Order: sequence, then structure tokens, then C-alpha cells
Amino acid sequence: MTAPSLVYVAAPAKINLYLGVGPLRPDGYHELATVFQALDFVDELVATPQQSGVRLVLGQDSPKLPVGPGNLAVRAARSLKKRRSVKAGVRLLLDKHIPVAGGMAGGSADAAAALVACNLLWDLQCPQSELMEIAAELGSDVPFSLHGGTALGSSRGEVLTPVLTTGTFTWVVAESPSRLSTPDVYARYDQLNADRDIPSPAVPTALLAGLRRGDVADVGACIHNDLQQAAISMRPELDLLLEAGRDYGALGAMVSGSGPTCVFLAENEEHGAEVAVALSMTGLCSGARIATGPAHGVRVLQVTE
Ligand code: C5P
Repeated sequence: MTAPSLVYVAAPAKINLYLGVGPLRPDGYHELATVFQALDFVDELVATPQQSGVRLVLGQDSPKLPVGPGNLAVRAARSLKKRRSVKAGVRLLLDKHIPVAGGMAGGSADAAAALVACNLLWDLQCPQSELMEIAAELGSDVPFSLHGGTALGSSRGEVLTPVLTTGTFTWVVAESPSRLSTPDVYARYDQLNADRDIPSPAVPTALLAGLRRGDVADVGACIHNDLQQAAISMRPELDLLLEAGRDYGALGAMVSGSGPTCVFLAENEEHGAEVAVALSMTGLCSGARIATGPAHGVRVLQVTE
């Protein structure tokens, strides 16, 4: 079999339906108890061969972001190349739709997409378990971007257990014109909690039961993010946006991950469309759109011989 001349993949955004943050560990990470859900909006990546090296190019409509060696997709391709002593290079064309530095693991999605695409392009036949191992080295959220669906995340977020979920959830995703750095938000969380003992985090069983039954109201009542207060202290306007979403009847409203993107759980698609339009008109966000979850992890959309 000849190696492909093109591989086209899509990788999903994620939200944390619950993000419990424990104490800071000696390795600089926080112990987490989280529930991830993949959403159906995706970054798209097309991998094609080049003689050597790893080159990342942004699609026409993609927002500006660094494409050098620090980019997580480039790091992913390079670590696979090094681990498997690959001589060939790769050109990665990235069409970015997930907010950049928005708290939805867009960079992790790109890394997961690069791993899957390069594995096929270079015909390495790495098993999923090996890709998951490399993913965990690249970042705490990268394994989930590969995995998709709904999953419990423990340790620093890289240890995953699938969660049984029925039905489909409609989320309104409100983007912010600004960006927030994840390490800065965690550092602010530590500052805000400096004078108390942070307990070990645990996911409420009511949330898992709600997901199992596909009960939107119960899930909406249980969603929670321990980083929200830290994100709001850095971007106070987010509090107003969350309040506006609740006023429009969202069953749950929270900052996504380390923010500043905010997510709102709607009763159904029609309600979601109403909330999205209403939030777009508040002037408190740069735009709002509907997404549904759970969605697949990285998917291969095309392989050309
Ligand atoms: O793993 P990742 O590179 O995505 O993490 C980025 C930063 O977020 C870490 O350097 C750390 O500051 C913070 N973080 C954390 N605890 C976690 C995950 C991330 O403190 N469980």
C-alpha cells in the first residue's frame, strides 16, 4: 500500500461540564475532577507530504496565531516524527474555527488532529494507545480531544473514563473579543484560594445521573467551573454575560474552562437559537453560536492515495 498524498481530519472543541480544581501539585499542575464534553464545532486540518520538516499554514479565514515550533500542532507532528524516526516532512493546513485561547481546548484539538493525520500520512500505524500517550505529553486536554464524547477526566485531566450519556445537548457558545492565558487563570485561582485548604475535587453524582438520563434541566443545574471566579476577576464583564444568558432562560451558564468563552445550556435547538441571537445583541460578546454535544473525537474525513 502506498502512503497517502493527503489526509483531511477534523477535531472538536471541548467544554468542561464540571471543572473541580484541587490543590497545586509539586509538578506545577492542579489535581482535577472534570467532565469533558466534545462539541460539534471543529478545527479542520489537511496534511500533505513535503520533503522534510513540519510546516504549519493557516487557512484564509483563520484568526492570526503563531505557527512556529511553539504551536501545539507543530509540536505534535514533531514529537511523532522524532519518536518514530520519520524522515519525511509534512505540511499542515489549518482551518481554525474554535476560539483561540478561549477555554475550549482549540490548541489541543489541533495537536490531536496533527497526531491522527501524520500517523496516516506517514503510514506509521501507531495504535490509539500510543497516540494517547503522546497526546498526554503534549498537554492535559489533548487526550480528550482525541477521545471525544463525554468523559470523566482525572489527575491533571489526561486520565479519561467514558461517561454514559443519552440524548443531545444544545449549547450556546458566546465568544469574547479578548483571550485569556490558561496558566494565568490557574495562578489567579491559587491567589484567590491562598488562605484556605483546597479539598480534593469530586464530580457530583447528580451530574452523571443527569447525563445518563439525558435530563437537560438536571445537567443545567449541576454544571460548575471552579476557575470561573478567577476568570471573572480578570474579565469582570463575563459576569454580566452569564447573567444575561440566565435572563434569557439558559438552564445553566458558565465560563468554559479557563475562559473567556462562556457556554449556556439551552432547552432545545429552538431555544438555543433564541439565546444565541439575544446574547449577540447584548454587546457583551463578539458573537454567539449554537453547538451540540456530545460529538466525536478526531475524525478522518478524507484520505487520498
Ligand atoms: O497541560 P497544559 O499544557 O494544557 O497546561 C497549561 C497550563 O495550565 C499548565 O502549565 C498549568 O499552569 C495549568 N494547568 C494546571 N493544572 C492542570 C492543567 C493545566 O495548573 N490540571
